[in-house]
Amino acid sequence: MTTGQSLIIDTDPGQDDAVAILLALASPEIHLLGITAVAGNVPLALTEVNVRKVCDLAGRTDIPVFAGLDRPLVRPLITAEHVHGKTGLDGPDLPDPQTPLQDQHAVDFMIETLRREPAGSVTIAPVGPLSNVAMAMQMAPDIIPRIKQIVLMGGAYFEVGNITPAAEFNIHVDPHAAAVVFASGVPITMMPLDVTHKALTSTDRVAALRNIGNRTGAAIADMLEFFERFDEAKYGSDGAPLHDPCTIAWLIDPKMFVGRHCNVEIETSSELTMGMTVIDWWRVTNRPENALVMGDLDADRFFALITERLARLP
Ligand code: BDR
Ligand code: CA
Repeated sequence: MTTGQSLIIDTDPGQDDAVAILLALASPEIHLLGITAVAGNVPLALTEVNVRKVCDLAGRTDIPVFAGLDRPLVRPLITAEHVHGKTGLDGPDLPDPQTPLQDQHAVDFMIETLRREPAGSVTIAPVGPLSNVAMAMQMAPDIIPRIKQIVLMGGAYFEVGNITPAAEFNIHVDPHAAAVVFASGVPITMMPLDVTHKALTSTDRVAALRNIGNRTGAAIADMLEFFERFDEAKYGSDGAPLHDPCTIAWLIDPKMFVGRHCNVEIETSSELTMGMTVIDWWRVTNRPENALVMGDLDADRFFALITERLARLP
């Protein structure tokens, strides 16, 4: 019998995506049905390979991995090699993956899975641009009420933007997809930069991962030491925000986060603020609440969870 919450991770690895995947794979609270790759940090041809390398690292070559959209719904793809490196997963030297790529398209996998599994049982955790999720909703609107919830990394309010002055990367890359998802009526928990910028690595936190002494801890420490250099230079911090694992940590231990229900609308017309998440944090409109927006977390508890769970992997 399988236990744990049924989950699909939709991702564009990305070093922080890798930690999110590994945290899910190491946690009995999660039953991972499959991982779908999307174009984002780097092109799809690299993100699908990176997902499979991460599954290999965890010794989970059995996890079904699917390739999805190679571009946003409307706009041209923007990538972030300046943050994640040429491969998207720069840092450790990982071998070519053994985990196979499934023939089925990621969007078809999402649709088929949501139609097959009991209604209201499957959670989706998108930690890249929302292109695959929005496409599945547009192709098969019958799946929308069957989704239990969406727990996503994206957007910002008080922190405003990281890829433009006004927008966070995942939402900026495919704002039209984000608009579809936020208008869908599915319960959404949102991890914006406001919370992920408090989930900062540090020399001690990365050392704790390396000191686990397993291959996963060593590879993740190598990844994070590479990943940190960009944010340290940009923000003058001691480390980098571990954005994407916030979604999985919330599914495992929601009490480490604090947030509030808000209305969130996505800017899709102004070039200047494209992909801005307009969050009614202070409830100054009558627009309906459509997301639980996180603002704070207990960072020590977050890193303790990641370290303890990654120690369960090879
Ligand atoms: C988001 O963009 C990517 O670079 C990260 O993996 C994360 O999902 C942060 O803005
Ligand atoms: Ca990501």
